[in-house]
Formats: sequence, structure tokens, C-alpha cells
Amino acid sequence: MRSLYLRPPVTGRRARIHVPGDKSISHRALLFAALASGRTHIIGPNRGLDVLATARALRALGVVVRRTQLGFTVIGGAFADPRRVIDCGNSGTTIRLLAGALAGRVDAQLDGDASLRRRPMSRITGPLALMGARIGSHKGYPPLRIFRSRDSLRPIRYVIPVASAQVASALVIAALAARGPSTFVQKATTRDHTQRLLLAMGAKLRCEGRTLRVWPSRLRAVARLRVPGDVSAAVYMLCAAATLQGTQLVVRDVGVNPTRTAALDLLRRMGATVTLSRRRTWTNEPVADLRITGGQALRNVVVPERLVPILIDEIPALCALATIARGTLCVRNAAELRVKESDRIETTVRLLRSFGADARGLEDGIVVRGGGPLRAPRNVRTFGDHRIGFAAAILAAASRTGITIRDSACMATSFPGFARVWREAF
Ligand code: S3P
Repeated sequence: MRSLYLRPPVTGRRARIHVPGDKSISHRALLFAALASGRTHIIGPNRGLDVLATARALRALGVVVRRTQLGFTVIGGAFADPRRVIDCGNSGTTIRLLAGALAGRVDAQLDGDASLRRRPMSRITGPLALMGARIGSHKGYPPLRIFRSRDSLRPIRYVIPVASAQVASALVIAALAARGPSTFVQKATTRDHTQRLLLAMGAKLRCEGRTLRVWPSRLRAVARLRVPGDVSAAVYMLCAAATLQGTQLVVRDVGVNPTRTAALDLLRRMGATVTLSRRRTWTNEPVADLRITGGQALRNVVVPERLVPILIDEIPALCALATIARGTLCVRNAAELRVKESDRIETTVRLLRSFGADARGLEDGIVVRGGGPLRAPRNVRTFGDHRIGFAAAILAAASRTGITIRDSACMATSFPGFARVWREAF
């Protein structure tokens, strides 16, 4: 169990930093490059433990995935039956997207760590079975067992009952190899990296609002696929900067896909000045530099329910920031938090309370009353959940103290090099 000590932050610094590549895009880049014909160079991907789990899984399926100085090189082709159980580690994106990609194609078993074994899988095995895939689970949880089918998958029309990009993506990927066009209707807008990248790789796909129509397609490799910085990681750094008087922070080359930037909008609604500059596009994904000036008076808000699915990963960080803002932050429609790497309603509330903050869990959300005094504990726990670790760092910044984050190893699942980037900024 590795601990991480963060010294008290220095206020008033000016810094320019980079955060690791976007985790969601990196998984997709590897997987789609593996499905495509040709060679893809992936530049600047996230190389945290989750994405490495996807890279390892693809190698176990016979795909050439080489680490290079700048990222990965992938030579796509057909999947072979893996010789061993594929270990997806802690990564929900790996197991769910892979299940969609492997359905009907190979005989394989997918498993993960204790946390992953508590993540619900019937949300993907159910609709994949409707497509004719033979796929089993352990009472709706990993390990998953996938069997090769003689016939290709059946096209379906399916209304996805949970707001989840992982589910939508798994189904879209499976539908690429079906006998005819499929239609999926999402209950809410979720991150659309799958659609953007598949379009860039030549898939036939139509997105109208929340309806996705997918035709059987072959993918073409992208010679140079550049991955933007992870906006979730950027948000942690911006939240911490927002607590520090006079601090100016620029996070360079961040992905600003509108299905990921709701947390930036919320920061603005809370009174922070977040600006974007140097806008450009990398492989269908918008990119910009983000700037914030710390120490502005912040007020809490009621988070609009429709935004919740597109800022779900940033909720622990925003709750941490809410402790120093006036008024009450209220997040509802967020029951999905209970089935993340930890029960994030429970773990976020426990973390905030360990700093003396006024926080309360609801069945489907969190309420934080800000503005009270914070007393940092000497050390905090992550509960094995990376996003709780980043929220702890923000609370430490807000309370101007040094802190030891226990069981911090999980923070490398999405943000390798976090301690170094944190030192550069604060
Ligand atoms: C992700 C989707 C989200 C998110 C996760 C990454 C993705 O999960 O929480 O960190 O890359 O598709 P859900 O789709 O289950 O909401």
C-alpha cells in the first residue's frame, strides 16, 4: 500500500503544465487501431494502469502493440483466442469495451481485480445476448465468459436504460460486425469519443441527438492519432488552483469535447474564471489550453441533472471544491456513482467529513454545505479509488496543509506522474 505525501501548496504561483493523455480516448485508440487494417501510431496516450490493461489485453489477443517513445504503435488484424484469462485490472472501460469487440469473434474470459468484480456487467451482457452473442457472467459481475459464434451478430434496435458511454460504446463496437444496421437510443448524452474516432476511421455511423445508427463497417488505421490531455485530470488541477489566492495555472493541450467539459461550465457557474485559448482539432477531437486564476469568491449551485452523466467523473473533485464555496452544492440523479471504482457517494462523503466538511450522501447524490472551517487530517484513504485520491489532494490545497494519501497506488490508474505535475503547479 503506497503512500503519497503532498507538501502544503504555495499560493500565488504561475505555472504551465501538461496532464496525461485522455484515458477514454486512449482505450478507444488502442482498441479501434487493433480492429483496423494497417498501422496506427498513437501519440501522447494516457499510459496509466487502466490503459496499459487494454494494451496487455490486445497483446493477449495476438495484436501487435508496441510501446514507443511517444505512445504506442498498433498493427491491426484479426483477434486470436487468448491462451489465458484476460486481466482487465481495475478498468471498467477495458472490460466493457472489450466485451463488445470480442462478442462472437473469439473464445475468451475477462476478469479483473476485486473492485472490478463488483461492477455490474448485465448492462452489456444483456443487449449483447440480444444480438445473439454467447456471453456469460458471474451473476451479472466479472468474470465474463465469451464464446465464438458461427454466425455474425444480429442487428438490433435497443434503448440503453443506463446513461453510460461504456455501454453505448460496447454495443456500437459489436454492431460494426453485425449482419445489418443497428440502432441504439441513449437515455442521456454521454461522452462521444467512440463515435468521433470511429467516424475518423471510416466507420459508417449516424448520430442524431441521442440516437446512434451503426452499419457493419471495416475500420481504416489512422497514421498519426494524437490524443489530447485528459480534461478530468485538468479539472482536478483547476479545482486545486481555484482554492489558492493569486495562483495562475495553464493546462496545455487539453481535450475540450463538449461531452466532457460540463465540469468547466460548472466551475464558471460557481464563479471561477476558466478561459480557453489555442483551440484546434486532433483526430476529430477539439483541443485547447485552459487557464484559471485562483482565489475568486465561489458559490455553490444545484448541479443540473442533465449534466450529471457528462461530469460524473469530476463529482468528487467538485464536491471537494464546494467545501470552500458559499452555499450548498447539490448533486442528484447520480446513482451511477455507487457502481464506480468505489461507492463514490459513500467514499466522497467520508473523505469530505474527514476534513470536517459538512457533507451528506443521498441515495442518488451528494449535498455539500460549504464555507465551514476545514481541518486536514494527517492522512487520508483513497478506498482504492483514484478519483477519491485526487479529491483528497484538492481538499489538502483548500486547507493549505500537507497531507499523506494512503493507498495512493490507484492514482496511477488514470494519472501517472500525478505527484510531479502537482509539484510543478503548486
Ligand atoms: C468512461 C465512461 C464513464 C466514466 C469512465 C470512463 C468511458 O463510465 O465513468 O471513467 O471511457 O467510456 P460509464 O460509461 O459507466 O458512465
